[in-house]
Amino acid sequence: MRLEVLPLAGKTSTEIAVVIDVLRATSTMVTALANGCPAIIPAADPDEARALAVAGGYLLGGERGGLPLPGFDLGNSPREYTPKTVAGRKVVLTTTNGTRALLLAASPVVLVASFLNLPAAAGWLARRKGDVLISCAGTDGGFSLEDFACAGMLLDMIAKAGNSLELGDGAVAARAVYRQWEGRIPDLLKSTGHGRRLDRLGLGADLEFCARVGRYAVVPQFSHGEVVAGDPDAGAGR
Ligand code: MLT
Repeated sequence: MRLEVLPLAGKTSTEIAVVIDVLRATSTMVTALANGCPAIIPAADPDEARALAVAGGYLLGGERGGLPLPGFDLGNSPREYTPKTVAGRKVVLTTTNGTRALLLAASPVVLVASFLNLPAAAGWLARRKGDVLISCAGTDGGFSLEDFACAGMLLDMIAKAGNSLELGDGAVAARAVYRQWEGRIPDLLKSTGHGRRLDRLGLGADLEFCARVGRYAVVPQFSHGEVVAGDPDAGAGR
């Protein structure tokens, strides 16, 4: 199995792509789906998101600059996506980097991962043979340490499942970065640029939430314009 990590989001064409935006878009998607949201519809910008939500009668969520948008039902804090709020309700989501990274992924199978569902995603990937590209969403077009380290942890988990892996240079670097922070994921999130910015915005509780490795067992797949929590094997193909 060949694995590579893109430090910044880009177009993917490998058999399988994994999109990671730990702070906070993919953590929010994983939480919403685990809490009974049937689908997340990623939108490129707030206007498109509003139009999609109105047309479908869906909830509208997202951020710009980390903060909720005027007139939106929800921001981009995973803590808002509770069963009470999202169970049975599709959500249109637009975020600065995470939804953009997802919309760039052009692989036949596109998974969504964060620390919250990493063991489940690793377990699914460990049973596959195809080439995997992990796309890190980054922050405002720049590199994000938390996404890169999360990618490294994912590789580490797949390797520990006994797979023989052929790692690209980005994957080797991501694994090395992860090992520097092994066992200290909450500290990692507090130390990164985006983590510090969220803390300044009064959203420090999101850092603790997003640092919980394996809180959920969903393996969301982006397919036909929607991110859903079903078995990726059943829904493969875009
Ligand atoms: C993004 O997509 O840029 C992020 O999820 C930003 C955020 O923390 O809300």
